[in-house]
Amino acid sequence: MWLLNGLDLRHQRWECHVLNRHRPGPAVRASRSVAIPRVIVGRNLMPGLDRLINISDFEREARRRLPAPIFDVIAGGSGDEETLSRNGEALRALRLRPRVLTDVRKRDLSTTVFGEKISLPVILAPVGYQRMLHRHAEIASALAAEAAGTVFVCNTISTYPLETIAETTSGPKWFQLYLPEDKTAASDLVERVEAAGYSALCLTVDTQVPAKRERDIRNRMTVPLRPDPRMILAALRRPRWAIDFLLGGVGRNAAQVPMSIDAAGRAIASTTRPVTVEDFAWLRERWNGPLIVKGVMRGEDCERIIELGADGIVVSNHGGRQLDSAQSTIEALPAIVEALAGRAPVFIDGGFRRGTDVAKALALGARAVLVGRPFLFGLAVGGQSGVEKVIDIFRDELDSTIGLLGYASVRDLDSDAVAPTR
Ligand SMILES: Cc1cc2nc3c(=O)[nH]c(=O)nc-3n(C[C@H](O)[C@H](O)[C@H](O)COP(=O)(O)O)c2cc1C
Repeated sequence: MWLLNGLDLRHQRWECHVLNRHRPGPAVRASRSVAIPRVIVGRNLMPGLDRLINISDFEREARRRLPAPIFDVIAGGSGDEETLSRNGEALRALRLRPRVLTDVRKRDLSTTVFGEKISLPVILAPVGYQRMLHRHAEIASALAAEAAGTVFVCNTISTYPLETIAETTSGPKWFQLYLPEDKTAASDLVERVEAAGYSALCLTVDTQVPAKRERDIRNRMTVPLRPDPRMILAALRRPRWAIDFLLGGVGRNAAQVPMSIDAAGRAIASTTRPVTVEDFAWLRERWNGPLIVKGVMRGEDCERIIELGADGIVVSNHGGRQLDSAQSTIEALPAIVEALAGRAPVFIDGGFRRGTDVAKALALGARAVLVGRPFLFGLAVGGQSGVEKVIDIFRDELDSTIGLLGYASVRDLDSDAVAPTR
């Protein structure tokens, strides 16, 4: 029973920016006094991290450490997981074309996004469920992004309040928005995001209706976690995870509006809804900063999106978690780059696991790549250090990729670097 309570009520509180309508008043300000160490786990102090030399190693280690139903939540996709696989397969099927006799002794991985310089074109995608992987959740990920000099994208349903994340980390930060149906709640949320200092808003548009995620159905997985006997059994098989989960102080200290597990579940479900042109226009009026649309897969949609005032596009199929059988993102990218014709930066995610993958997307016109599962695996394995190591792997691999390709800067990569597919 204690374990039930521990899993459920005492430790599993979810920040829900949607329902949490209050302004960051005394309750949230109180969270500033919460002692959140800036470096939660000393860099590379996590034993065994050095053994993990690529993203597949991190995935394998995450599978070993997490209860199976939780690993499935992050690793799985929808339906037959065709899109999930296709994202990676299509990237790997592309061939690079190295050039020679160029001076690549000094290489530069940095780029700019909406006027902010980032040290490498790899951004941490907005992802939920981070609290299920490590008790420091978004704080650990955001600190790792800051240490690496790249963007952290806070998701709408994070476990720490958006203000706490903004106050704890000083790196570049965007906020991912699932636009609440209720306009008062939406307005309040956008104001909070602005007040907290997030530099860009990333509106997700590909969750019109719920997807069929069969691993979660079979595992009877619910988010937030419910103490189902299977879940408890799975947790007992992973005691290290269970201890971390139970130690987690999220919610107890975060001082957001306390929510019952049911209310949190309803709030999470309410984020799945179609975003209309009217919604977009409404949001554009309220948000003055860069507005990025995430979940675009067709070039034809871009004209309207740009006319409505978007400043950037993320080519995304939600990592194969929404429409199964959708095209891979790398296949969709060229038409979107062509349609935008330089009017707005194009970002992409889905299946990026290697520096070579990143180089291919940049060569085909993406400004930067977002990664989701890779950093979640890092978070599960080693908290902040794990995420930092994952970013380091991308950095090292991208550095050697552009050098071997014969380019001195990621900004110089062009379509000649990739062999035509037909
Ligand atoms: C566990 C999980 C949770 C996610 N949660 C969100 C979310 O809350 N909002 C969102 O826009 N995208 C979400 N995504 C999608 C990611 O932002 C991103 O599009 C995807 O993970 C990229 O594919 P990759 O995991 O292969 O890198 C989620 C993805 C995963 C795996």
